[in-house]
Amino acid sequence: MIDAEKIRSEFPMLVAGDKDAKPLAFLDSTATTQKPACVIDAMDDFYREHYSSVKRGVYRLSARTTEAFEATRKNVAKFINAKTEDEIVFTRGTTESINLVAWSYGRKFFEEGDEILISGLEHHANIVSWQLVAEMKGAKIKVIPVLDNGDLDLAALPGLLTPRTKMVAQFRRYREPHCRNYRDRPQARPASQNFD
Ligand SMILES: Cc1ncc(COP(=O)(O)O)c(C=O)c1O
Repeated sequence: MIDAEKIRSEFPMLVAGDKDAKPLAFLDSTATTQKPACVIDAMDDFYREHYSSVKRGVYRLSARTTEAFEATRKNVAKFINAKTEDEIVFTRGTTESINLVAWSYGRKFFEEGDEILISGLEHHANIVSWQLVAEMKGAKIKVIPVLDNGDLDLAALPGLLTPRTKMVAQFRRYREPHCRNYRDRPQARPASQNFD
């Protein structure tokens, strides 16, 4: 059972609140996120005691920073159950991640007439890259419609998925009732993989 109060107590911003709202409920996590004390401390420690370039230098400090960076990649791989750490690519955010997939996978594998399926609730970070690569490769964007109550019309999904669907890219949390219309970080997967 998740102890929400305990987790909350680890986030200085949530404990301190702000001057207008205490306790603070922070709902803008898709744009940026609050950090727990251990993350703030690690960042502080890094900037004060260890800061140097990653994979850019042969001096001791840089080698140690590179080691720590790669150890983090391993930890992340373990945390999300990736097959190997080679599957982990660090980016600055969602837009950059989706651009990367669109311009690498999309530019190489999309062909004329292929279809990219997004939903009518996407942030432009999950629309524009697909539009650009679709235009370049002659692919087509299809959209899962939104019902009047704000849910996605999942009944329309079987009709939208076709043998030409090469990519399904949609934000992740829409099926959870308490997250209705809540936009989580988008996920993109080649249509050949299962998605849920
Ligand atoms: C719902 C949603 N998706 C995606 C993004 C884009 O994220 P990023 O700034 O990491 O590119 C944002 C940014 O505010 C967002 O609110």
